[in-house]
Amino acid sequence: MVTDLGGFVASTFKRGLQFINIPTSLLAMVDASVGGKNGIDLGHIKNQIGVINLPEMVLIDTDFLNTLPAEQIASGLAEMLKHGIIHSNNYWERVKNIAVSNKNEFETLIWDSIEIKKEIVAKDPLEKNLRKTLNYGHTLGHAIESYFLKSPDKKNLLHGEAVAAGMVLATFISMETYGFPKETLFDISKTIFKYFPKQSFDKKDIEAIINLLVFDKKNRNGQVLFVLMKDIGNYKIDCVVSNNLIYNAFDYYKNF
Ligand SMILES: NC(=O)c1ccc[n+]([C@@H]2O[C@H](COP(=O)([O-])OP(=O)(O)OC[C@H]3O[C@@H](n4cnc5c(N)ncnc54)[C@H](O)[C@@H]3O)[C@@H](O)[C@H]2O)c1
Ligand SMILES: [Zn+2]
Repeated sequence: MVTDLGGFVASTFKRGLQFINIPTSLLAMVDASVGGKNGIDLGHIKNQIGVINLPEMVLIDTDFLNTLPAEQIASGLAEMLKHGIIHSNNYWERVKNIAVSNKNEFETLIWDSIEIKKEIVAKDPLEKNLRKTLNYGHTLGHAIESYFLKSPDKKNLLHGEAVAAGMVLATFISMETYGFPKETLFDISKTIFKYFPKQSFDKKDIEAIINLLVFDKKNRNGQVLFVLMKDIGNYKIDCVVSNNLIYNAFDYYKNF
């Protein structure tokens, strides 16, 4: 949150100052501090105002993670799992069995996650195609995050917790739409439920979440567009998904 807000303020104060990011949460290390997106929420809609502007430098010291609460570590892990799904089987296999207590291994995976994000951003800085894959699980994830934020009877979710649910849903939709392998969908679901508690969604929740999809920045001409996967590392952007399929995905999530 601090690198988004700090980057936004620095980029707009007196028409812009240079800034350096020093992330202290896992999520900020592997994702938010890299790539130059600086957005803030408006009301309860995610990232409605912002700029794309790269920091001069990102300075990471993993010792900060020694004091980070476990659920915050898991929240960052969601983005690392996402890097696995969008990038390669090799990284997915390594990251799904991550041992946070093994400092060397953990640091190597953090480094590799940053490399994956950096490589994607460098190839497609303006998010015309490849960079959209970094939004995997985020279309429904952001809507879930916003919905929980504005619902008094729901506990606020951490960004990674919402994205984790969004990735299970997107992977089910990927299987139904592009034949994403069923056994890999199970593997992803199993991995995500190992790190993240299952959230409950009733019919009214799902309806409200679907209504929030209209605020997604990736939409075009009033159509909600998803990033889906044909397989690990093999993506398809700008996919139109029916509401019916979204309901089926929530059924899959509930019954897994
Ligand atoms: N700009 C991007 O590209 C991008 C990418 C991914 C996520 N995000 C955004 O990032 C935000 C979430 O970021 P976050 O997970 O860092 O949340 P956060 O900044 O709210 O930090 C999480 C919590 O951890 C605490 N904390 C941070 N470092 C700590 C440390 N070393 N020890 C103990 N406590 C510590 C914070 O005080 C806070 O309570 C979301 O709003 C999401 O939209 C942005
Ligand atoms: Zn994210």
